[in-house]
Amino acid sequence: MLWERLKYLAAKARRAWSDGTLREKATRFLASSVRIPVAVICGYLRLPRADRRLNIAAGFADHRGQTGHRQPDPAHLERIIAAYQASQEAQRTAPAVWAVRGEWSAWLDINFRDLVRALQSGDVPRLAALFQNLHRQQFTIGAGSSYDEYVRYRTSLTGRCYVLTTWCRYRDLFRSLAPAGAEVHFPLIGNPAGIDLAGETIPIHTFRYAYHAREMLEWLRDIPDATIVEIGGGIGGQACQTLLGAGPGTDTGTRRAIAKYLVFDLPEVAAICACVLLAAFPDRRIRLFGEGPVSTDSSEDYDLGVFPHFALEHLADGSVDLFHNACSFSEMDGASSRACLEVIERACRRYLSHINHDTRLPRRDADGTPSLNVLGSELVPDPRRFKRVFKKPRVFCLPEDRCHRGFFEYLYERCDGGQCAGIVE
Ligand SMILES: C[S@@+](CC[C@H](N)C(=O)[O-])C[C@H]1O[C@@H](n2cnc3c(N)ncnc32)[C@H](O)[C@@H]1O
Repeated sequence: MLWERLKYLAAKARRAWSDGTLREKATRFLASSVRIPVAVICGYLRLPRADRRLNIAAGFADHRGQTGHRQPDPAHLERIIAAYQASQEAQRTAPAVWAVRGEWSAWLDINFRDLVRALQSGDVPRLAALFQNLHRQQFTIGAGSSYDEYVRYRTSLTGRCYVLTTWCRYRDLFRSLAPAGAEVHFPLIGNPAGIDLAGETIPIHTFRYAYHAREMLEWLRDIPDATIVEIGGGIGGQACQTLLGAGPGTDTGTRRAIAKYLVFDLPEVAAICACVLLAAFPDRRIRLFGEGPVSTDSSEDYDLGVFPHFALEHLADGSVDLFHNACSFSEMDGASSRACLEVIERACRRYLSHINHDTRLPRRDADGTPSLNVLGSELVPDPRRFKRVFKKPRVFCLPEDRCHRGFFEYLYERCDGGQCAGIVE
């Protein structure tokens, strides 16, 4: 593990050197190497005794082969490979605004080689092995998995304090919104790391997703058969918690809280997300890229869709009740996040919620092309068509996120037809 970590840091340093960000990243790394251990030790000392005794060892044990562990289904893997290869083909002719530049271009180069090789060659057994160990493979880093805490737990003297303090803080934030006694569940897919609660491993981010799921379902309460589109959904944690929170309800002939949930992400990450959602919701109809139109029309016979980011353009005007994006617009190249906003402005019929930071990330791609992100506070939908319902400091924040300037949650509501008068951003 330590050796892998060193190789990873060396690859990051090489890439940072070539794209001119070595000084920025080294400064951030050194500062957080001092600040985070101090913060988590102080947090740990303040934890009640019962929290210090939470079952962390069982949560970080190897879960592969454990009762209830969901193995990747070879038929699903074949579909994921076909969708990935179709995405790659379509990506070649996608408009330039969807080119992957900046932060995520480096991220894919450094972390996704094994996964891409398996997807490109259609190697089902290799893909099965990688997905079986999801959450502990480098390609899930930074996409809402438990990889970061797994690495800290295994390689840092303060890793245990980090996990316990962060997990308990996230749990308490979730409890502050949820009714007393509300539980969270996390499907045993891949090899998640977290705290063991009554035999179920609950990773840290589960609480964040479950909290935002409650918010979303509340906003959409008066909209039957709502359609949600999540851009940059990572490994699918938000989709899982929102659909679990909405409860069952397909094909019953009754009103459904959510009729369709679509995730758009980079093809490599969409492959991971598809693996998670196919395993988590075996009874739902799931559509991957190439299996049918990218449309939210009620005549389309699927409940959950996973598509590559550039397919967002296919969404019809006024076809989505809620767009959601977390920690992703401000990590994209500015051309892509602006293109997303353009789609949202025409396709959104009710809400846009996003959670993004205000740190400028000047980057240079491997070929020397510069890339600059758009800040969260700069991504404002047309005020003649949308009003801002709130902008508030982000609720969930990891110790390492403190390096970012301003991290806010935004909710915008569509208000054409004169209702927007007088609202100034
Ligand atoms: C930090 S992760 C956040 C994941 C998840 N939303 C969460 O909150 O845990 C950023 C996500 O944005 C995605 N992403 C990066 N560039 C993108 C683009 N141009 N279009 C769509 N998604 C993108 C990444 O693949 C990744 O899943």
